[in-house]
Amino acid sequence: MPELAYLNGEILPIDKAQVPIEDRGYQFGDAVYEFIASYNGRLFCLEEHLDRLERSLNGLFFPSVSREAVRKAVLTLFEKAEIQRAGIYIQISRGVSPRNHAFPDGVRPQIVMTIREVEEKPPELRKNGATAITLEDFRWGRCDLKTVQLLPNVLAKQKALAAGVFDAIFVSSEGVVREATSSNICIVADGTVITHPLTPQILPGITRKVVIDLCRELDIPVSERFFKTDALYGAEESFLTGTVTEVLPIVTIDRHRIGDGQVGPVTAKLHETLRQRSIA
Ligand code: PDD
Repeated sequence: MPELAYLNGEILPIDKAQVPIEDRGYQFGDAVYEFIASYNGRLFCLEEHLDRLERSLNGLFFPSVSREAVRKAVLTLFEKAEIQRAGIYIQISRGVSPRNHAFPDGVRPQIVMTIREVEEKPPELRKNGATAITLEDFRWGRCDLKTVQLLPNVLAKQKALAAGVFDAIFVSSEGVVREATSSNICIVADGTVITHPLTPQILPGITRKVVIDLCRELDIPVSERFFKTDALYGAEESFLTGTVTEVLPIVTIDRHRIGDGQVGPVTAKLHETLRQRSIA
């Protein structure tokens, strides 16, 4: 079960894979990425991740990158690594060129990937629920594009850890609850699952979409609409969604207990059903 890297067509050990210092991903954060996980040797939602990758590439006006070539590279790396429960990062930068803000002419996008065993969330965290703080959203205006410019997310996560909690939730200056540092967020209010609508202020999470579909299947009312911190603090339940996060209960936010402070039934049901689907 080797951890491997893919570097523009070549597969090699991760510590042997290097990118040039003039890669625009390194110089400007001019790169997009995806993270895909597998369960029992099967990649979950591969096509949905490739769709979002294409969307991010188009959003940054990258020259065309063959979806088929990326899919083939992912599958080859996955096959070679033989990791049943794998996490694959795909990162595509605009290319390598002398430092200049303007897009370079005739430069090929650089495609890199890594594959490793997924680091599962601790079972106690899933059983007891996680804690979080809210922070004013200080990210840029295109959070719907999955770019590698994650410094605000990194700083927010670190602030959460320094405060002794699991994660930070970005909130607009008017109090609208956006998303967490690497997950989307849902609340349950009057039995309805509510999550931020798809706008440039949040990432269109693949897990978010799967969870919305599961709600419809399970006859759980679901609504994509704005909600503020008062609704968050007063929710019956709240949970994060993401590729490794899956459905993760949040039981305390800014020292407010959410519901009765235990993992709620809707959260538990959605997590159980998501797991069944992903390992099926
Ligand atoms: N993060 N919101 C943000 C800001 C994210 O970075 C992510 C994913 C999500 C959830 O998206 P999805 O359900 O498609 O994983 C929401 C990935 C996992 C990461 O940065 O590693």
